[in-house]
This record gives sequence, structure tokens and C-alpha cells, in this order.
Amino acid sequence: PNRPVVFSGMQPSSDSLHLGNYLGALVNWVALQDEADPIYCVVDLHAITVPQDPKALHESTRRTAAQYLAAGVDVERATLFVQSHVPAHTELAWVLGSITGFGEASRMTQFKDKSAKQGTEGTTVGLFAYPVLMAADILLYGTQLVPVGDDQRQHLELTRDLAHRFNTRFGDTFIVPEALIPKESARIHDLQEPTAKMSKSAASEAGLVKLLDDPAVTAKKFRSAVTDTGREVRYDPAGKPGVSNLLDILAAVTGRTIPELETEYQGRGYGDFKTDVADAVVERVAPIRARTLELMDDPAELDRLLAIGAARASERAERMLRTVYDRVGF
Ligand code: ADP
Ligand code: NA
Repeated sequence: PNRPVVFSGMQPSSDSLHLGNYLGALVNWVALQDEADPIYCVVDLHAITVPQDPKALHESTRRTAAQYLAAGVDVERATLFVQSHVPAHTELAWVLGSITGFGEASRMTQFKDKSAKQGTEGTTVGLFAYPVLMAADILLYGTQLVPVGDDQRQHLELTRDLAHRFNTRFGDTFIVPEALIPKESARIHDLQEPTAKMSKSAASEAGLVKLLDDPAVTAKKFRSAVTDTGREVRYDPAGKPGVSNLLDILAAVTGRTIPELETEYQGRGYGDFKTDVADAVVERVAPIRARTLELMDDPAELDRLLAIGAARASERAERMLRTVYDRVGF
């Protein structure tokens, strides 16, 4: 009771989530289960706005959900579901699309960037309407808080505008959501290019730590991590980005503070330090990998868990959709 509704949607991710997704997002999602009423949605409808291979999309949607579950998303405390399982998302999107200006949708910078990449013929109406579907995702659940990065800020603004507009034209219906800025959130960098954020779109996988990598591969990536020619384990993101990134990672996975870690590694070389970071990450990630593989090997159990979320989400979403249809005059 009185827990704020938080909505977060994530695209199905090609083969594995990475350590940045885990420490920067997933750890927060799991923590939110104690203080919020979180709704976590694998947004496969959003994914098809650019070309997808059907079999790969199906697999990656399930693998993404499995990794959330394995990392601690709990279907009793969070509503975890696949977007295409709840038809109300597309139904509300149609209504919202009908109060969205062509001009205002045309101003979305993410659309401009993505459509430039796809070319005129490759740019779909779905890609154009993407932010309207995102507004529907959020507004269907009476969402109060939306964790957003900079790239989604403009879309959240549009969502707020559409909620206001609908409420003004048709009577109070939607809660106008706010952005949720996480209190503390690790920002993880690439192990080979420590000034760049760890990202699935990195040119090389050598610095990308994947949750589903074999533990030996993870250990090797850490042993080969770029540091510098010094020998001091000291936190200095500008001067020592490689070492500082490893300190951030070690602090995040062990719960220890950076000064504590600096003291512990005083007078010891980078070798020991890197091995310890590798061990700590493997210790934290290995059970998540194992549980993910277990869920992928047990489709009936994964289906059962996703059906719980779909049923709960549908019930809430349909209640809102009925109100909307009524207000609109259907
Ligand atoms: P990517 O950057 O690999 O494409 P996404 O953009 O799909 O990842 O991000 C999914 C979630 O993971 C978002 O909440 C994002 O803020 C978080 N995230 C992604 N990369 C990092 C990172 N390097 N450090 C911290 N959080 C990250
Ligand atoms: Na990204």
C-alpha cells in the first residue's frame, strides 16, 4: 500500500546482458522491489520497429527475462512480463497516437537519429510511433516514477504532455509521471577503453563483461584489462581511468568503499588487484549465469513465471483501458 508505481521497459538484448546493465540498472531494479510497486517489461513491440530475425527475437526476449529473474527480480514483488503478451499496450497507443501532433512526434531526437540510420524507405511508421507506445506503457499502470537515462528524457516529457492533454480533453484519467533519478548508481566503463561506457555496441568484446560469459572468459577479460604504467591502486577517474573503473566494479560487487580498497592494495601490484576483481565479479555473476541457463533449459518454468506477470499486468492495464475507452466515447 502506498508504494509508488515504477515502470521500466527494457529491449530484448541480443545475447547477454553486460556488467554495466547489471550494476547500473538491474541491481537498482531488485532494490526497488522493497520500496516500490515495480513493473518491468521486456519491450518486444518496441524492438520490431527496426528489423529483427523472428527466431532470434523470440530467444532474446526469453533470455533477457531469464536474466532479470536470475538477478533477483521476484514475480511476487514485481510485475515482470513481455510487452506483446498484454494487448492493452498497442490499444492505448492507438488512442494516444490520435492526440499526438505529427509535428511534436517529428521533433523526437531519437527518431531523427534512428531514421537517419535506416534511410527513408527503411524508416517505419512503427519507429515514428515508438514514443507514443512508450507513453502507453507508462500511463496504463498509473506509473508515478520512471527511471530514465538522458536518452529517454524527451520521451518522458512527451508522455507527460500526452497525459495532461488527455486529462484536459476527456477528464482526469492518467497520473502524470515523474523521472526517477537513482540515488547512487554505478557507471561501468569498458575494460579495454576505460573512458568509454561499457556498452553492447562496443567495437570489440574484449572489454565487455557479459553476464553469460563462461567464468574463465570473464577472468581472462579482467586479467587483460587496461590499466596504466604506474603501480598504485588509487582512485583517480581522470588520471587513472582503468584502475578507477576496476575499483568502482570491485566496490559495487563487494559493497566495500573505495578508500578501504585503496588501503588494502597499497604497495601491492596491479596483478593481485586484477585477479581479486575477477574473482569477486565471477563469484557474484556465476550464480546469475547458472540460474539463467537453468531457466532457459526449462521453458515450462519460464513460461509459468512470465504468465504470472502477464496476468497481473493485463488485469491492471485492462482496467485503465476500459476507463480510457469510456472517456473517449467507445
Ligand atoms: P547499452 O548501452 O549496452 O546499449 P542499454 O542502453 O540497453 O545498454 O541500457 C540498459 C540499461 O542498462 C539502462 O538502464 C542503462 O542505464 C544501463 N546501463 C547500460 N550500460 C551501462 C553502464 N556501462 N554502466 C551503468 N549502467 C549501464
Ligand atoms: Na544503448
